[in-house]
Amino acid sequence: MQRYSRITGWGMYVPERRLTNFDLEKMVDTSDKWIVERTGIRERRIIGPGETTRTMAVAASRRALEVAGIEPIDLDLIIAATSSPDHLLPTVATQIQADLGAVGVPAFALVAGCTGFMYGLVVAHQFIASGAYDRVLVIGAETISKAVNWEDRTTCVLFGDGAGAVVVEASQTPGGLMSFELGADGRDWDALMIPAGGVAHPPDMEMIEKKLYTIRMNGRAVFRFATRVMTEASRRVITQAGLTPDDIALLIPHQANLRIIEYAAKKLGFPMDRVMVNIDRYGNTSTASIPIALVEALEQGRIKPGDNVVMVGFGAGLTWGAVVWHWQPVETDTAAILVEDWPIPQRLQSSLRRVRTQAWNARVALSEKATLALIPLYTWTHRLKKKVPRPSLPPIVKKK
Ligand code: COA
Repeated sequence: MQRYSRITGWGMYVPERRLTNFDLEKMVDTSDKWIVERTGIRERRIIGPGETTRTMAVAASRRALEVAGIEPIDLDLIIAATSSPDHLLPTVATQIQADLGAVGVPAFALVAGCTGFMYGLVVAHQFIASGAYDRVLVIGAETISKAVNWEDRTTCVLFGDGAGAVVVEASQTPGGLMSFELGADGRDWDALMIPAGGVAHPPDMEMIEKKLYTIRMNGRAVFRFATRVMTEASRRVITQAGLTPDDIALLIPHQANLRIIEYAAKKLGFPMDRVMVNIDRYGNTSTASIPIALVEALEQGRIKPGDNVVMVGFGAGLTWGAVVWHWQPVETDTAAILVEDWPIPQRLQSSLRRVRTQAWNARVALSEKATLALIPLYTWTHRLKKKVPRPSLPPIVKKK
């Protein structure tokens, strides 16, 4: 039996702190007028103290799980798309997994620039369609503000921080991902890059002095690439799905530049009232931009059951990705698949995996509690062990 994907949960998180174009006017030689006219951006969000890609991803994921009505432990896979992980090693995906309390659930990060979420969504669908997994969490989270040179007006005005997440579940009802296209053109890998900090140029003084740990971009080259792939990839996925642009209720493009979005919409013949735009409030949040736009579109009631939606993105690499997603009714029938249609060995395997994961989580929670309880004892014995006898002071000789 064919298995389909269904988005059953969605959530987003953006930091409180707003950085407006007027704030940027005080930092670099720019103006609100230039930024609005050339990009459509008015403000972006920037992480505050204690916030990172990990914390934003966890907040967005918790919300998505809540909407889906499932526990973290019920997930079969976590895919965290990001180009700004908390650490180079380990993957931020396992940190997110631990914070969610989904210990045991496989988790990996996916790097495809701003297209990461699109790649993640398609990968999630493959696991579901093959019958390997039933519930996949796909996250797009990015702290681009830490990779931006705040003295470079050509890039710093463009980006913002944020995270979005969706829960993708198996379904029997036809719908979900109807067609997709993933693409890459590595010949232009250096059109958008961070020159140092990796193996090719490990951290050194030159990296610090020349700020080679920040984004370098050939804006015009990326602009040309973006307008072409957004239009062509969208057109191809719509045709592949056997539809026409008129059948698409909403276009959700990567929010990189309003001019790119308007150009693509015009070429595709989409009126702007069928295009999701929130770049004015968040800027380019990289791989978080499409899930954030999706969440806002859903919250604004712009996607209804039965609608066809196109999501399309592009980014560093250079990469691109597009899907047609058919929005099914919210109610999920995954349980029906599990109980009635699965062969007995697979059902047993699924139950076993759940029990094993629960046992694992319980063990981790217990050992954490035990460690906490033992800390005072450990500190005390440690001190005892370390207690060195005071050196005896030389006798005081009284002067006569
Ligand atoms: N404020 C004021 N002036 C600025 C500026 C800023 N923030 N940034 C650049 N300028 C200046 C340039 O120095 C240039 O001046 P000059 O003509 O005296 O040399 C002028 O504005 C025009 O620069 P240009 O690069 O041609 O502008 P543009 O219209 O191409 O817009 C981008 C620049 C970056 C907004 C645009 O190219 C773009 O959006 N590219 C795609 C980037 C993208 O999407 N990246 C993310 C991919 S995921």
